[in-house]
Amino acid sequence: MELSNRLKALPPYLFAELDEMKRKKVLEGVDVIDFGVGDPDLPTPRHIVEEMQRAVEKEENHKYPSYEGKLEFREAVAEFYGRRKKVDLNPETQVIALIGSKEGIAHLPLAFVNPGDVVLVPDPGYPVYYSSAILAEGRPYKVPLKEENEFLPDLESIPDEVARKAKIFFLNYPNNPTTAVAEMEFIKECVDFCIDNDIILAHDAAYSEIAFDYRPKSFLEYEDAFECTIEFGSLSKTYNMTGWRIGYAVGNEEIIKGLLKVKTNVDSGVFQAIQDAAIVALRGDDSVIEENNRVYKERRDVLVEGLRKLGFEVEKPKATFYVWLRVNGSSIEFAKNLLDKAGVLVTPGVGFGEYGEGYVRFALTRSVERIKEALERMESALNV
Ligand code: MLT
Repeated sequence: MELSNRLKALPPYLFAELDEMKRKKVLEGVDVIDFGVGDPDLPTPRHIVEEMQRAVEKEENHKYPSYEGKLEFREAVAEFYGRRKKVDLNPETQVIALIGSKEGIAHLPLAFVNPGDVVLVPDPGYPVYYSSAILAEGRPYKVPLKEENEFLPDLESIPDEVARKAKIFFLNYPNNPTTAVAEMEFIKECVDFCIDNDIILAHDAAYSEIAFDYRPKSFLEYEDAFECTIEFGSLSKTYNMTGWRIGYAVGNEEIIKGLLKVKTNVDSGVFQAIQDAAIVALRGDDSVIEENNRVYKERRDVLVEGLRKLGFEVEKPKATFYVWLRVNGSSIEFAKNLLDKAGVLVTPGVGFGEYGEGYVRFALTRSVERIKEALERMESALNV
């Protein structure tokens, strides 16, 4: 059976490839320490699980959910934005539920991109920005995120004729994989650039609550952003709920409506019991978020200090649960070597795009003990 040209144009999905690398090693009997995919090892908080158990028993939750999500869920998202970001949202028109933010990101270009239209994608970046553009028969244009520019895009380097043909600009701060953060001045520049060029600014805020002595901003804190911005959020990383598949999109009403039209044609909404559990999460006390951050900060410090002792130059990230390590040379060779010699799995930077070459990413989703063990194994493997 021949695949469509769209599908043929897609590279293999990075995290599925990593799973395969790990599976092979485990079959060889290796005790792999996995810093690959960013899947929190911390449990979903008890009160959220208990609400899910109650919600599953309710018969009204066994029916089709609404396409846009329960109003109460959308109100909880709006309250969360009011509390955490000081942004006012109208839950009826400016918020929808998603089956995880990946789903919303992947569907957005289908709503707004015609064949041949440009989609601006950060490179390195979450692979779904690139593939969603291809699936909509758009043309991804890679916007490099370089260390010398603090991993922020250089908007002036985007040629005018590219900007004129662009329909969507994907951005993501705190950034995966580079861990860079965005200050208000930069956010304003991006929003103004998108307004001037009539581009939808699609901001992926999956790591909006994972930060250390720093408060990540919503792009919607800049009021003009409502003219052009859709922001994607997720309970996956904030409340350790990756497997639950629940997220949301907020922002400009027309953009939200367009995305909802795609979703209404391709999915039937989020299981209501999951929405009930998510409401309890979003309205719950923020100590859950603070505790996650305390754990990630400790792990960050142990890993970064250990890597420095091994001779690497690496900064402590202000946000996300990743460490982006410059290794020079081939990131695939570095990662393979580490897996073969030390049983330590990291994500090669080139998997996030060509400008990720020369780096690898560690996800801080392993305990301090396992991080220390990985550092010891690396010391022998790298012969330092
Ligand atoms: C990552 O490791 O970059 C992410 O966890 C993948 C995802 O969220 O789908």
